[in-house]
Amino acid sequence: MAFPAQRPRRLRQNEALRGLVRENHLSAGRFILPLFAVPGSNIRQEISALSGNYHLSLDCLVEEALAARDLGIPAVLLFGVPEAKDEQASGAYAPYGIVQEAVRALKKMVPDLIVITDVCGCEYTANGHCGFIKNGYLDNDSSLDLIAQIALSHAEAGSDMVAPACMLDGQIQAIRRLLDTNSFQNLPIMAYSAKFASKLYDPFFKEGTQSTLAFGDKRTHQMDFSNSDEAMREIALDIDEGADIVMVKPALFCLDIVSRAKREFHMPLAAYNVSGEYAMIDAAARLGRIDRDAIMMEALTAIRRAGADLIITYFAKRAAELLEGRASRSAHAELLHV
Ligand code: PBG
Ligand code: ZN
Repeated sequence: MAFPAQRPRRLRQNEALRGLVRENHLSAGRFILPLFAVPGSNIRQEISALSGNYHLSLDCLVEEALAARDLGIPAVLLFGVPEAKDEQASGAYAPYGIVQEAVRALKKMVPDLIVITDVCGCEYTANGHCGFIKNGYLDNDSSLDLIAQIALSHAEAGSDMVAPACMLDGQIQAIRRLLDTNSFQNLPIMAYSAKFASKLYDPFFKEGTQSTLAFGDKRTHQMDFSNSDEAMREIALDIDEGADIVMVKPALFCLDIVSRAKREFHMPLAAYNVSGEYAMIDAAARLGRIDRDAIMMEALTAIRRAGADLIITYFAKRAAELLEGRASRSAHAELLHV
């Protein structure tokens, strides 16, 4: 046999050939953009740890959602930053709470956009915990009632999908039951199934939702990041309990988990490219050490290649802009250079 028969470089000679054999493609249609709603009007306050992302009053939230939709982004993941927090997390399930009002505004003004709502107590409790604390411990079963009530209030406001983020045992079942008995059998659940206890959420928590943990941490409910088999058990439980989409979080630090989850479960799979992952790339780019757009595309493609169907990312708008530009360029100029 003449050496070398196989020359992998043959198919890398130019962009047209590379494009022809490219295995994975990013598409704005797979992005979910997180949005942060705040009370008031005419507020568009940049979240410094998440540059290019904003605290938005409802009028500005609608504008941002329209812009996202016009870039081909099909869905947003909605968070609320309430005016006041209390021990009962009452703002989380108030019929006219910030998220409920934001859902109504979005569904009225941008009806074709999928509005997914994050279901957890920690943006609404004074102590920053995800549910009710008893003897210093996040009490599972009483918190389930809270979580289910939050989900129902989102459904009643018109949410298209609820995304329970708490990592309580039985949370998908509790939500599914309450939704079903209230005629929301068709409302899908995107479960934060394998959510690791991670310091990568700090930018989101401190600045995004302006929460602080008064004591303790979240390691009694979120997963130990040393574990992989346990992540598969968590995902299996959520599927049994009725999850429609399962999620791995964080994304870039958990590409092994994403890959395993896709291979083992064949479910619609989301990966959450979290605030700390965004902030690291953003900070390094500001220092001039890396090319922001290039690293963003490489990171998002890696998440897709690992097996994620959906990517929740603060980069969604910028990446969608670049993808749009690239699509029109490759259709014309690049093919002519073959
Ligand atoms: C819980 C929630 C958190 C994130 C999404 N939903 C915070 C937490 O669990 O501590 C983190 C997202 C991110 O870091 O981008 N409401
Ligand atoms: Zn929480």
